[in-house]
Amino acid sequence: MKHVISADQFNKDDILEILNLAKKMDEILASKKVCKIAEGKILATFFYEPSTRTRLSFETAMQRLGGSVISTSNVNFSSVKKGETIEDSAKVLSGYADVIALRSPEIGYAARAAKVSAVPILNGGDGAGEHPTQSFLDLYTISKYFDLEKPLTVSMVGELICGRTVHSLSKMLRNFPNVKINFVAPEEIQIPAKYFHEGDKKFYELTDEILETSDVIYDTRIQKERIAPEVYEKHKNAFHFDVAKVSKMKPNAMLMHPLPRVTEISPEVDDLPQARYFEQARNGVPTRMALIAYVLGLEV
Ligand code: NCD
Repeated sequence: MKHVISADQFNKDDILEILNLAKKMDEILASKKVCKIAEGKILATFFYEPSTRTRLSFETAMQRLGGSVISTSNVNFSSVKKGETIEDSAKVLSGYADVIALRSPEIGYAARAAKVSAVPILNGGDGAGEHPTQSFLDLYTISKYFDLEKPLTVSMVGELICGRTVHSLSKMLRNFPNVKINFVAPEEIQIPAKYFHEGDKKFYELTDEILETSDVIYDTRIQKERIAPEVYEKHKNAFHFDVAKVSKMKPNAMLMHPLPRVTEISPEVDDLPQARYFEQARNGVPTRMALIAYVLGLEV
């Protein structure tokens, strides 16, 4: 059975297969035709943490595929509140649904669920661990503008210690050896050693050189819910992107952000050609359609 738990599971061929599937899904969406690829299938979304994009784009994806959705948008209204373990919840849900999208507060929940689940588990973020389905939509967005096989500089900026989106994305990018990765963050919230590879660069400040030479800047929110309050206070305004800064980026470079943004990017930046974060969020739908089809082995 196929699950999507960690970026480690995927080699270049898998990634390209899923991106290609996402492209087909975009064509289906553009055609406005009713799609019945997943007719009769049910997706369960089980989220222990707040979510707008991940849960709703998974649900939209399943409905666009012609399937249906059952959902606890807040596990406090489920038996988790009564002390049920992730294993028991996964066993129960896998008796109801054909695929489960799960967001959890701690590293390892998705893997624990996958061990006992009778149906595929899609990890929609496990605490400060990984967020591989986000990485597929990030890669899909990048691949619309850049060839991942050619030289490309990607700078991950902001809070990198707990930011699960950069953890998974940096792992996935390892499959494309021409991609150079810069990690840009104050030391206290820099990328953990296990995600840093030979050839990567670490910066502690966002310099003009980084702005001017990056093809992709992937900005992130400080994970207030996961770091100490004093660390949050110290760094909460680090690296604010305003129009002046973003205008230093190459005209064809991309400013990405998994969203939600809090104070990292001024709303005025939204009108600049480099701003790609809303398009990125929208790409969650075709990408998650592709991931559902991939784990369920649906004929596209
Ligand atoms: C991210 C997450 O939940 O990890 N959001 C998302 O899924 N698009 C980023 C964040 O919360 O900062």
